[in-house]
Amino acid sequence: MIGPAPGRQPAPAEPPRDAAGTAEVGTHFRFVDLFAGIGGFRIGLSRLGGRCVFTSEWDPKAQETYRAWFGDEPIHGDIHEVSVGDIPDHDVLAAGFPCQPFSLAGVSKKKSLGRAHGFACKEQGNLFFRIVDIARAKRPPVVFLENVKNLRSHDQGNTWRVIRGELERLDYVVFAEIVDAIHWVPQHRERIFIVGFDRRVFGDAPPFSFPVPPTTTPRLRSVLERSVDPKYTLSDHLWDYLQRYAEKHRAKGNGFGFGLVGPDDTTRTLSARYHKDGSEILIRQAGRNPRRLTPREAARLMGFDDDAAAHFGHDAGFPIVVADTPAYRQFGNAVVPRVVTEVGRGIVRVLHWHLDRTGNGCLVKGRSPAPGAGPGAPSRRVEADAASPTSR
Ligand SMILES: C[S@@+](CC[C@H](N)C(=O)[O-])C[C@H]1O[C@@H](n2cnc3c(N)ncnc32)[C@H](O)[C@@H]1O
Repeated sequence: MIGPAPGRQPAPAEPPRDAAGTAEVGTHFRFVDLFAGIGGFRIGLSRLGGRCVFTSEWDPKAQETYRAWFGDEPIHGDIHEVSVGDIPDHDVLAAGFPCQPFSLAGVSKKKSLGRAHGFACKEQGNLFFRIVDIARAKRPPVVFLENVKNLRSHDQGNTWRVIRGELERLDYVVFAEIVDAIHWVPQHRERIFIVGFDRRVFGDAPPFSFPVPPTTTPRLRSVLERSVDPKYTLSDHLWDYLQRYAEKHRAKGNGFGFGLVGPDDTTRTLSARYHKDGSEILIRQAGRNPRRLTPREAARLMGFDDDAAAHFGHDAGFPIVVADTPAYRQFGNAVVPRVVTEVGRGIVRVLHWHLDRTGNGCLVKGRSPAPGAGPGAPSRRVEADAASPTSR
């Protein structure tokens, strides 16, 4: 784990949970969902009692999905065109900022094309600085970011040094850890989660820790559909090609190739390019060529499952409202909501710790405490309703 030495404060109390033990109840906080995609952060944080007060996502297809899942609230487009003054006060700034300039695939492709990558990439790399601008102006008590694992090693560690340095310069205490979603979904998916706590609110040593994952791992069986359209079975031509390609690389000692799995296995990482040939995750079929995941299976593999959907009033799973290609791309780009919830649980604990410690009714500076808040107040609120003229 990257972050300050564990604080000397006593461990924060466990926040209350609902009957299923999955969601904290009685914790209300506001968050903004930037680079929202299809709302992995939104699902994960809503399940902890968070309320989304602002969304930015510029891709029209992702917006279509987001609207179908969460309703007709406005979705703001290009983050560069968003005026900071239009962003409501919030307790948590959540953002899975675009990973392409930092991902191995993105870097090698860009390098091979002689194009800029990382922060040198004007269109993409500077998006992190937009987050910095917003955090500087709005001073959310918590920033909660997600990116690809190799963010830390990109450009010999310079990219990570810049990100961490910028957040620290803004006076945030920064924690970061690579979390593998495999403990909650049957997919090996390592992502870096970065959590910053405003030092001016929480002091130098907020007692934050990343989740201790369960030792069990769900199996692919739990996401597979019973009856699958034959169109997802690979053609002889594609299957021959993938086998020859894998053999060629095996001969050269490379690990590239397809990932063939069955119901008792776990999978490789679902990528945004899955729609191309599906080679990273192919399902074995008796007496037939392997098949791809269906979009519904891809959704479940990412944790966009029926249980999460029910939380948003969808009784038959999240509706898939776009064609297969954008659907695979959206799932492959997303964050696993359950991992957001598990990391977010640690954030909520710190919010409770802070409220207990200070007896405050609200976190964001400049807001007055909610009426009745303070020591002995009947309910603890992380947000201050009384000072929220910008809520939608
Ligand atoms: C890695 S994905 C984040 C996915 C999201 N965490 C989820 O769970 O679906 C990054 C997202 O940022 C969006 N994006 C890229 N540039 C943007 C910009 N300038 N303004 C708004 N959104 C942008 C992309 O369309 C993409 O959906």
